[in-house]
Amino acid sequence: MSIDWEALRREAQRMTGRAYAPYSHFPVGAAALVDDGRIVSGCNVENAAYGVALCAECGVISQLVAGGGGRLVAFACVNENGDPLMPCGRCRQLLWEHGGPDLLLETPKGIQPMTEVLPQAFDVNDITAVTGT
Ligand code: THU
Repeated sequence: MSIDWEALRREAQRMTGRAYAPYSHFPVGAAALVDDGRIVSGCNVENAAYGVALCAECGVISQLVAGGGGRLVAFACVNENGDPLMPCGRCRQLLWEHGGPDLLLETPKGIQPMTEVLPQAFDVNDITAVTGT
C-alpha cells in the first residue's frame, strides 16, 4: 500500500486549526492512514482541569474505532507550523494497540516504525502468554 505522506501531513496540519488549546496555546494535529485506505484524524482538546486534556492521537483512535475499526498503517503528527512531533508516551501505547510493530510514523528524524518509537512494547501478547485467553 503506497503512503502519501504529504497528504497525511496536510490533513494533520489542517487539524491543528480545529484544536482546542486555550491553556497550552500549542495546537496539535494528527492524521493516519488505515489499512482500508481511509484517513482518520484528530486534534488536541484541552480542559480547565489540565490533566484530562485529550491529545490529538486520542481523536485519531476514536475516529478509527467509531468509523469501523481497522489497522493503522502510517501516522503523522504536527504542530501548527507543520513540523513533525513525537507522540507522548501514552499515545505511543495507543498507536501500538491499533497499528502494532509495523505502523510507520513520521518523526523529526524521518520515517520510523513503532518498534523504534516504542521498543519492547507491552501488548496483548503479554497478557495471553499468561492467561491463555
Ligand atoms: N499533545 C498532543 O496532542 N499529542 C502529543 O503527543 C503531545 C502533546 C498536546 C496535549 C496538550 O494539549 C498540548 O499538546 C501541550 O502538551
